[in-house]
Amino acid sequence: MDNRPIGVFDSGLGGLTGVRELRKHLPHEDIIYFGDTGRVPYGSRSPEIILQYTRQDIAFLLSKDVKCIMAACGTVSSTYPAAEAAQLPVPYLGVVDAAAREAAFATRNRRIGIIGTAATIRSRSYEKLLRQLVPGAEITARPCPLFVPLVEAGYVDHSAPDKQQITKLVIAQYLTEIRDAGVDTLILGCTHYPLLKTMIGEFMGRDVVLIDPAKTAAHRLEQMLAERGLRGDHPTGQAHFFVSDVPDSFAQTADLFLGEYKGGPIDQIAIDKY
Ligand code: DGL
Repeated sequence: MDNRPIGVFDSGLGGLTGVRELRKHLPHEDIIYFGDTGRVPYGSRSPEIILQYTRQDIAFLLSKDVKCIMAACGTVSSTYPAAEAAQLPVPYLGVVDAAAREAAFATRNRRIGIIGTAATIRSRSYEKLLRQLVPGAEITARPCPLFVPLVEAGYVDHSAPDKQQITKLVIAQYLTEIRDAGVDTLILGCTHYPLLKTMIGEFMGRDVVLIDPAKTAAHRLEQMLAERGLRGDHPTGQAHFFVSDVPDSFAQTADLFLGEYKGGPIDQIAIDKY
């Protein structure tokens, strides 16, 4: 038993989709969340800058005495070196591994699509793993950079029809090639994409399985804590949020990602100090 908090971080607020899943799977755990709202987005940046930011984010969480760290960010999970993660003083989990395994399990025709930020697709993180897991896999991958700003502007599944029209055009623009490749499984490899799941599903067709990495990672973290004897037993787990820009916009946008779960306190920190 270990009642220290779980540390979760993301380039911004998208990682709250991960917090929402953790709340469902691990209701007795405390969570410390860091969203790098002052430096988001990561997905369009160079590997060197992403690594520097990732190290600072992790150093901040470690200063809060977390018992494990989950990178909810697709970009960070795709670029943070496994060798470095293995040296951390607490267990580290990204979102790529569990989602790739789920995709390998789901596919019947070995044709798998991957979408994510430019940095995620460039890293070929999912692709490398899938080629090991699914011999002969045919992989079609593409970055979808407009999805993040569309989601943050509220052009999501449950938005008004005129907003949805715009998102649907962008979905068609990005995903036609993947649909035409005949994939039966599509990895939504970025924190924001699950908020477009219904529209993406309608475009791809109902036979295509959509993999949500936040869900698979939360499930994996639950197993990992149990295996290592690190589960907490708080009567009700609390969440404490930290951001690197003023918290105002956090409160406005957080609802979009958190769903019904209403979070805890929000504080601003100076991430450059870590
Ligand atoms: N959180 C990022 C990801 O999942 C998306 C936003 C960004 O580019 O920083 O890749």
